[in-house]
Amino acid sequence: MKRRGRFITLEGGEGVGKTTNLDSIRSFLEGVGIEVVTTREPGGVPIGERLRELIVTEKSLLPEAELLLLFAGRVHHVHELILPALAQGKWVVSDRFVDASFAYQGGGRGMPWQRIEYLEEWLLKECKPDLTLLLDAPVEVGLERARARGEVNRFEDEALAFMQRVRRTYLSLGQRYPDRIKRIDVTQSLPRVQREIMHYLQPLVDAWRE
Ligand code: TMP
Repeated sequence: MKRRGRFITLEGGEGVGKTTNLDSIRSFLEGVGIEVVTTREPGGVPIGERLRELIVTEKSLLPEAELLLLFAGRVHHVHELILPALAQGKWVVSDRFVDASFAYQGGGRGMPWQRIEYLEEWLLKECKPDLTLLLDAPVEVGLERARARGEVNRFEDEALAFMQRVRRTYLSLGQRYPDRIKRIDVTQSLPRVQREIMHYLQPLVDAWRE
């Protein structure tokens, strides 16, 4: 039987460079002979992608509905893609996962924390990230970058105060789970950011190979 793969998530506010860094993580892991599946949330599988469309565009969505739709997509993502790939010994790298629900729906929208914990405990018990890279930049910097790319979704349109709450929540999650969540300052040059990411990936690769 193959050894279970590792599950890595990338988190952060808007415009922090998740896509670029996802690509470099994939190249690094493939370069050391690891089979990699990259994916994203909301989305990742057909039902999740259909729900994503609704979640990022539907302005009348109530916060409760938003949270439940995110978890609905996540359940499919976990059971159809993440767990099967890990069982086949592949590494899964996801652009966002459940920490985003704590940051955006909990911190940003003010949904009660215990409700999200309840959903996590109920639906995701077997699926916890081994490593989470929290790409962090001041909100203004990230929003500026996101807007320069012309990518303004329903969330990027939120008030600055919303994004500040998201960032603060991510940072406090990082303090709460320091072994799993590693904060990376993405206001540094890209080569430095990438070096830092590899610094956290290498020990995971080494331990997996032992
Ligand atoms: P993106 O960063 O991939 O474009 O993600 C789309 C938006 O979805 C992003 O603005 C954050 C939001 N989101 C949540 O609000 N909660 C979640 O649990 C996830 C996964 C994403």
